[in-house]
Amino acid sequence: MPTFSTVKQLVTGAGCFEQLGQLARGLGRRALVVTGKHAMKEAGVTDRACNLLKAAGAEHVLFEQIGGEPTAAQVDAGRKMCAETECDMVVGIGGGSAMDAAKAIAALVRSDAPTAEYVQGRKADADRVLPCICAPTTSGTGAEVTPNAVISHPASTVKVSVRGRGVLPTAALVDPDLTITCPPGVTAASGMDALTHAIEAYVSIHATPVTDALSFHAARLLLRNLPAAYADGHDRAAREACSYASTLAGIALANARLGVIHGIAHPLGIRYHVPHGVCCGVLLPASIRLNHAAAVEKYRWLSHVAGDDIEKAVERMLDAMNVGRTLREYNIPERDFAAITKESMPSGSLKANPKKVTEEDVFQILRQVAG
Ligand SMILES: [Fe+2]
Repeated sequence: MPTFSTVKQLVTGAGCFEQLGQLARGLGRRALVVTGKHAMKEAGVTDRACNLLKAAGAEHVLFEQIGGEPTAAQVDAGRKMCAETECDMVVGIGGGSAMDAAKAIAALVRSDAPTAEYVQGRKADADRVLPCICAPTTSGTGAEVTPNAVISHPASTVKVSVRGRGVLPTAALVDPDLTITCPPGVTAASGMDALTHAIEAYVSIHATPVTDALSFHAARLLLRNLPAAYADGHDRAAREACSYASTLAGIALANARLGVIHGIAHPLGIRYHVPHGVCCGVLLPASIRLNHAAAVEKYRWLSHVAGDDIEKAVERMLDAMNVGRTLREYNIPERDFAAITKESMPSGSLKANPKKVTEEDVFQILRQVAG
């Protein structure tokens, strides 16, 4: 039967990052702080985190190595530093990449095998993980509340991740004020990722009334507030709505899974280095056309809160935020569509899609958005 699970502590609202020190002090003595190299430092978030930990009497060690999707080698380096400095908890601050790196380090630091083996399917021992606190600085991935960490693998054409109960963070601090400095392009892409999570989880075959409550409200908040957050990053009401929405969508996807878009977006991201959220946005209208007959009632509800046909509303959002509507705009050539289709088919996300997805369906989606 469906079993719902999420992080033990979820702290939300403007200014809640101030609680980092207290929260950490309750979980351990010394934190490995995992974050990006530049943006967090420049925005002063790294210094603030260190000061908050210090003020609460928690020690910290900085691991500022994450730029872009973490590699298995970076996670290995983080595990080594975490063990050598005897940290007993991990704090991840940043976008999905920094949080995923933090989650993988916390989950694997007490294990012996190299990270690459866990990426290839070896199960992490959930009883040997360190507590992990995640604080997102974008409104998108929902990584602060999901039990998997995407790790890039140079030889692979599919996105791979370390997953399992032990990868779910212990606590999430979701402070919309941390997203104020997020640039418009990142706001648009991460917001489209969150909207895709909300819609795919909502129409997933694993959706329940519990996950519907989260995914539907997340979609509603994003449909009504994401363009405003893009147009004016200092619109705090819009930022707060998107912040809540990305976390709600993350909790929903962790319990209801995703759909065809995530199956296709992953090979696209790996092959052409197009931001994940942009891939999601480009594919979203075509996926609605594919799935419409399989989830008529739910798309009707989405159209209701969008104030327009949901497919048209999404297209308007893409235009308003200067996200392309075609693959051609991102230099993805039609001659690769057959290979992309092959690479999409093994994805677990396809299995949760409301319409059973065939190779022909994937190929047709690509054709529809070819440009
Ligand atoms: Fe996503």
